Formats: sequence, C-alpha cells, structure tokens
Amino acid sequence: MAQDKDTFKGSDTLPQLLVSENGQEIKTSDEWQNIRRPELLKVFTEEMYGCMPGLPEEIKYTVFESSTNALGGIATRKQITISMVNKGNLTSVDLLLYLPNSVKKPSPLFLTLNFKGNHAISDEPEIKICEKMMAPSDKEPYPRANASSRWPLKLILSKGYALATMARGDIAIDGKGYPTNNVLGLFPELQNRNDNFSTIGAWAWTLSRALDYLEKQPEINPEQIIVLGHSRLGKTALWAGVNDPRFTAVISNDSGAGGAALSRRMLGETIGDLCKNFPYWFCKNFQKYVGHDKEMPFDQYQLMALIAPRHIYVASAQDDAWADPEGEFTSLMLANSVFELYGIPNALPGTKMPSVNSPLRWHNGYHMRTGKHDLTEYDWQSYINFLDKHFKHE
Ligand code: GCU
Repeated sequence: MAQDKDTFKGSDTLPQLLVSENGQEIKTSDEWQNIRRPELLKVFTEEMYGCMPGLPEEIKYTVFESSTNALGGIATRKQITISMVNKGNLTSVDLLLYLPNSVKKPSPLFLTLNFKGNHAISDEPEIKICEKMMAPSDKEPYPRANASSRWPLKLILSKGYALATMARGDIAIDGKGYPTNNVLGLFPELQNRNDNFSTIGAWAWTLSRALDYLEKQPEINPEQIIVLGHSRLGKTALWAGVNDPRFTAVISNDSGAGGAALSRRMLGETIGDLCKNFPYWFCKNFQKYVGHDKEMPFDQYQLMALIAPRHIYVASAQDDAWADPEGEFTSLMLANSVFELYGIPNALPGTKMPSVNSPLRWHNGYHMRTGKHDLTEYDWQSYINFLDKHFKHE
C-alpha cells in the first residue's frame, strides 16, 4: 500500500491486526471471526472500556407520551421510559423517538445519545425535561432546545430517517463516582475489579437496551439501525457498535482519542489526558497505559476493524486538532485489510486524507469539514448521503 509519510506518522509501530496472539497469520473472514476478533475484543474489554453485563433481571418499556403531529406534522413523536431492575437496584432512562410520517415502509433509524437532555434537542414543549444532572458541575437542567443546532430534526425526518435519543446523564452521570440510581448502580458488583463496568460501557450498554425495543417496532427497519455519536459519545457509539452486531452502521463524529484516533501518534489528546480528566470513562486497567501511548499492545484501528464487515463512517473537523483528524482518518483506512477478508476491497477508498468538505464515500465513509469540534447540519447531511447510497439500493 502506498503510504504518505505524514498521514502515517506513528503508524510504523502499530500492533498487528492480522496475526493472532500465537503468531498465526489471519487469512480468511472465518479465521478473523473465530480467532483474531475474539482476541482483540477481549483486549479492548479488559484493558480499555471494561466489562459489559448481560440483561438486567427486569426491563420494561412504557410509552408515556406520543403525538402523530410532531415537528409541524412531518413526524410522530413517542417518549418511552426504560425501567430496569437488577438485584434490588432500579433505574430508568427516557428514550425520545421521532418517526417520519411520509414513509410508509419501515424506516432506517439513527440511535444516538445526547449531551444535555432529550428536551435540549428540540423546542417541542411536550418533551420531558431530564431532571438528572449530566455532569457533577451542573446545577439545573439545561434550557429547552439548548442543543438544537446539533439536531436538524426536520432535515433528518424529511429524508425519511427516524431518530431516537437518550441523555448521557440519564444513563450515568459524566463524572467520577457513581450514584446508585443509574445504570452503573444496577451492577455494583462490576465496580470493584480492574476491568470494571465503565461510564462509556454503561452508555454503550444502554444503547443496546434501547435497540432491544426499537428493532421490534414495525415502523423501524431492523436491518438499517445506525448508532451515531459526537465526541465522547462518538467513542461510545464505536464501543456500542463493536459489541452489538445489530447496528448496521456506526458513525463516529469527532470522537478523537479513545475513539477513532490512533493513540500512538500522540497528536492532540493523549492517554495521559484521558486518564487524568476522565478516568471513569474507561476501566481501571486503562490507567496502566498512561505515558505508554506509543508502546501499547493495542490501538484504535483494531477497534475499527472489530466493526467489519458493517459500515463505518468517521468524521473530523478541520479545527479540531485535539481529536487528531489525520489519526481518525488513518485508523479507519488501516482497518481496510479486515474488510478485504470479507470480499470488500478498499472499504475506505484512497490512502490520503481527502480535502476539506469532500466526503469519501464507499463501503465506509470519511469527511473532514471546515470548522470546529461540533455536530453540524453538514455532518448530518453527509451521513444521510452516505446511508442513502447503501440503504436505497439494498
Ligand atoms: C473533551 C475530551 C475529549 C472529548 C470531548 C467531548 O475535549 O478531552 O476526549 O471527546 O471533551 O466529549 O466533547
């Protein structure tokens, strides 16, 4: 493969993708699926994101509000409480769902997490205010529609896509320590271990619990469910996609370090930064790698490969050096060899970063847009263009 020296900075020391721990070269998709993929999944689980529990003892989905006349009539809105009980611990999480009214057959669905509460994505007054705090420094809920610029609902729904979302703080507060009335508190026995259930783990696990419900709804096409997240929630979308093969496509928007970006480039955020500022996102074992970014026995391109042969789209922003755009691109591109085992050559076409605002679209996709770290209408439009290409012809 022709390699551009700058694009590949740091990649010469990458850990192997297609050689198993006992030295076997991985040459087929069966060998990948049965030998190498389980090895790597175990490494990322034990060393980075932490263990994932199974189902809680009880789980119940209750629709508490709905309207067929949402967003000026283009959508049907449903609000659902997911109530969970495990060994006497209980918690609940609210799921907000919009379905496109114009589509008569089951729709593709974006399943996402949001930063500020379901009520912050839209100005619709019926959306329940999330009373749980998103982070320990929050004093009160965010104002309604405070994050609406990140959620161009009319665009998404008018293109025939459904959207479902939950708030990060409704699942697990974004801070150190954990209260008992959240998803981590359902499984306290998974805390006192070095591969503990982490906050990114809890966010990702709850995406799968929402999926358990959503994939059974007649208005949704279970073959076209996309998990999407921005930044820390992009790291989460990747981890959810790795663990749950029911996600047909995984979209990482500006996920950066601990997400799409290669760690050993050490450009932008490092493992030391992640572990100092957000240790609880990951399991305790991850602390071992502080200062060892360049010698870690695993790296994020292997995480991308764990999603193969499903679709991955990675997006970066030009002014988001903290997330290392080239590291995000390179990681996805280097995962191509696993897609090849599945008969998908050049899953991400090209070996060089494309110019800004020129999305690469093939089996996988990538773009770098102008501007800062954010989730914008441009990003959504690019995801929809990419998904339309696959879904409208499948
Ligand atoms: C911080 C953090 C990043 C994270 C981002 C976000 O900048 O260092 O790792 O992706 O917050 O979630 O917005």
